[in-house]
Amino acid sequence: MVVLGIESTAHTASVGIVDDAARILALAGDMYRPPAGGIHPREAANHHVDWFPGLVERALADAKVSPREVEAVAFAQGPGLGPCLRTGATVARTLSLLWRRPLVPVNHCVAHIEIARVLSGLDDPVLLYASGGNTQVIAYGSGRYRVLGETIDVGIGNFLDKLWLSLGGTFPGGPALERAALEGVELLPLPYSVHGMDVAFSGMLTSVLAHRQRGASVPDMAYSVEATAYSMLTEVTERALAHRRKGSVVLGGGVACNERLRRMVREMAEGRGATMFAPPKSLCVDNGAMIAWTGLRAFRSGLAIPVERSQVQPRQRTDLVTTPWRDA
Ligand code: ATP
Ligand code: FE2
Repeated sequence: MVVLGIESTAHTASVGIVDDAARILALAGDMYRPPAGGIHPREAANHHVDWFPGLVERALADAKVSPREVEAVAFAQGPGLGPCLRTGATVARTLSLLWRRPLVPVNHCVAHIEIARVLSGLDDPVLLYASGGNTQVIAYGSGRYRVLGETIDVGIGNFLDKLWLSLGGTFPGGPALERAALEGVELLPLPYSVHGMDVAFSGMLTSVLAHRQRGASVPDMAYSVEATAYSMLTEVTERALAHRRKGSVVLGGGVACNERLRRMVREMAEGRGATMFAPPKSLCVDNGAMIAWTGLRAFRSGLAIPVERSQVQPRQRTDLVTTPWRDA
């Protein structure tokens, strides 16, 4: 079985094609990079309109499959930015009608955990999902994926991006901060905001900018932000492992590309005798392959929908979607 997946929740337009052995036959994408400042949803959506036709063609060519061989078309239904989601959904509906193939909605957060699960072979891990818009600790329990903890203000990636812009850089900030942090030596005191299972970052932004007024160097600020923010994430992830009695943790989201975060979570997991897995970076960031793979599982569980019920859900919650393939 071959399924094509469309991802367009935020700045990335991506098309993935997978088969039922979880082989990724093709992955073609492009990320919208605003010339200055943050992402404007409408401009990102326009970028996706420009790119999707070519990306679908390229994915089919790379996978060496014809539309006839595609058995279902999956798309990210939410959560995400409305205009971006609608663009991807329109592409998916068009392909579904044109090729006469079932249309399968996928929750973007569930897709991050499903791709990590299949790549790692881990059956029941905790997911630390750290991206631009999302920062959540997720685990399966009582028939659903449950959000055990999350940010109570901004997503960690948005926080890193905003900080880097404030320091005069350009989007995306996370990778640039990672490079700068390698040269940092002094750990500046920053607010460590862990509230039970939840975290917060906005106070840290204010505090870093105050350090800057006092002449702190960019490498020291970057190092201190990474050390503090990633400790917070590692702490709540450890608590989830302990309380849910899970033996493994997987990473997902663009910030999971960060080597320091990977190292900190790995050390924590190994210290507890747990397993840690981080997907390759191309599959940590938003990508169509995770949508295709989760769509394949959902399709097999009978979750295809008619076009008239395929509205996007910008605020779709992880724990509101059913995952019958997990219960089987
Ligand atoms: P979502 O819709 O899931 O919230 P997103 O739109 O934020 O996703 P992703 O590709 O998952 O997209 O993540 C992008 C974020 O990841 C950006 O905020 C970027 O700065 C951050 N990022 C990417 N690489 C790194 C890195 N090496 N270190 C830290 N942050 C990174
Ligand atoms: Fe994502």
